[in-house]
Amino acid sequence: ADTLGSAAAGKGRYFGTAVAAGHLGESAYTATLNREFTSVTPENEMKWDATEASRNVFTFGAADQVVNHARGRGMAVRGHTLVWHSQLPGWVGGLAAADVRSAMNNHITRVMQHYQGEIHSWDVVNEAFQDGGSGARRSSPFQDKLGDGFIEEAFRTARAADPAAKLCYNDYNTDGVNAKSNAVYAMVRDFKSRGVPIDCVGFQSHFNSASPVPADYQANLQRFADLGVDVQITELDIEGSGTAQANSYASVVRACLAVSRCTGITVWGITDKYSWRSSGTPLLFDANYAAKPAYGAVLSAL
Ligand code: XIL
Repeated sequence: ADTLGSAAAGKGRYFGTAVAAGHLGESAYTATLNREFTSVTPENEMKWDATEASRNVFTFGAADQVVNHARGRGMAVRGHTLVWHSQLPGWVGGLAAADVRSAMNNHITRVMQHYQGEIHSWDVVNEAFQDGGSGARRSSPFQDKLGDGFIEEAFRTARAADPAAKLCYNDYNTDGVNAKSNAVYAMVRDFKSRGVPIDCVGFQSHFNSASPVPADYQANLQRFADLGVDVQITELDIEGSGTAQANSYASVVRACLAVSRCTGITVWGITDKYSWRSSGTPLLFDANYAAKPAYGAVLSAL
């Protein structure tokens, strides 16, 4: 196969990218997207500040642009994200507990129903755990007002809103076996044992020299898969360049392919030109849309 998407499809996986609606008018951007990728994640357009900046006033224009582009070309769409402490409008933090609950459930329901039938997996809750060794939950209006049970409630609401969508928990620094991933693992095991609806765990996989691809990456993906959930690599980018970057990318692809429930890989952007990472060159295509060594490494690992 000669594209990322077709090579991944040959292995029964999707190969996706984050997409920004604002770049769809750039012909090289769109040509690369359409040629290489079989799944898209709106980079910012489905976040709470974009879809419900004012309470109960929903705006889907930018997200619809991304979804319509993808669906019109047969690409899958990952929904990102419903409940997250970041890119959250200030009004949510000003609510009392009972109102946070109804606002959260209303947000999940309205956004999921708008996209019903169009989203293969939703990141229902994003980044709810703290970094470091505590395994504790991160402070947010949801955590602070509703306590640990907000995650379970969000997943139950999401299942009711769109029973066909796969429901994922998504986080970063959970890529290897560590205190944070142990805490997520314990939550997923608990959810599975009690019948709380969860179908998948997303591993963001933002790597750099301080936080490289962990040696136990595959083992960590596998232990989650063994709980009875799919695993997905959801926001992959790897700072660096040349052969070292290429080798890291190849190791991520090999880890996913070695885990039968690893259903797909999404890179967090098409081109280095628009990466969110300050160091600037973590993706598969350079700023001129030329394929980098990392691209070739991914293609041959698939
Ligand atoms: C990032 C986007 O790429 C940026 O454009 C935006 O300014 C901030 O958010 N974890 C996530 C993603 O789940 O939503 C974040 O995306 C990157 C970290």
